[in-house]
Amino acid sequence: MTGATALVTGATSGIGRAVAVALAARGAQVIVTGRDAARGDEVVTAIRESGGKADFLAGDLAGAGAVRALARQAVELGGGHVDVLVNNAGVFGGGPTADITAEEIDAVYAVNVRAPFLLVAELAPAMAARGRGAIVNVLTMAARFGIAGMALNGSGKAALELLTKSWAAEFGPSGVRVNAVSPGPTRTEGTALFGEGLDQLAALAPAGRTAAPEEIAAAVTYLASEDASFVHGAILDVDGGRNAT
Ligand SMILES: NC(=O)c1ccc[n+]([C@@H]2O[C@H](COP(=O)([O-])OP(=O)(O)OC[C@H]3O[C@@H](n4cnc5c(N)ncnc54)[C@H](OP(=O)(O)O)[C@@H]3O)[C@@H](O)[C@H]2O)c1
Repeated sequence: MTGATALVTGATSGIGRAVAVALAARGAQVIVTGRDAARGDEVVTAIRESGGKADFLAGDLAGAGAVRALARQAVELGGGHVDVLVNNAGVFGGGPTADITAEEIDAVYAVNVRAPFLLVAELAPAMAARGRGAIVNVLTMAARFGIAGMALNGSGKAALELLTKSWAAEFGPSGVRVNAVSPGPTRTEGTALFGEGLDQLAALAPAGRTAAPEEIAAAVTYLASEDASFVHGAILDVDGGRNAT
């Protein structure tokens, strides 16, 4: 992926961090984004110390203006082009439906649905004009079937699943591949608060265990790379087999 610029949202932590490290190891110049500059700098330093190329761009995906600004800054930092976009950042937003406020719904949908939508709107047309590019959206297995208490998170990611297919139809003919990875329970900073609940959820799948972030990142990297040159609009379940059983 030498010569390619990759923008990875939510790269200051967990799965996004592992994706940033993996793409940099393949030679991409990675733009690490998130709100937390200290965590971002740590990821950038780790990549550079391993001989990779990375920069940090701070941005809060909750605001539409900030998302559009982030896309423009990424193009500048990337030398005029972003070739790979990984829409990984997400907020979990769970709980009984009756307990969720209108503000929580807006907050989750802003980061999990609107931000990827606006980033694609900003970046995909230029990829299409160049005739190449790859976009990978990070979903969740909770978007593939119903889980009590996961209505908010699952529904937003289900919207992103359909967007993956819509964008594959819209931009694929111009050489831009759009795909998604649908992870199962994965040990990250973000899921630390679920404690043993994460293991109990993971135990229901054939693999019977939680994933490491690197196992999800490997699938994202595959879809972002030319190894997946004939793969368009695919939803790759990386959930230990849960969705299949
Ligand atoms: N871990 C799992 O079990 C699991 C399972 C299925 C799907 N997923 C999905 O995988 C993705 C990554 O999950 P993870 O477990 O790695 O999460 P995580 O450790 O909580 O990391 C979330 C990332 O998103 C960023 N982020 C959150 N809100 C943001 C905002 N308003 N603006 C900009 N950045 C924001 C965070 O950066 P800052 O804090 O620096 O802003 C952080 O880098 C999410 O989309 C999640 O839904 C995870």
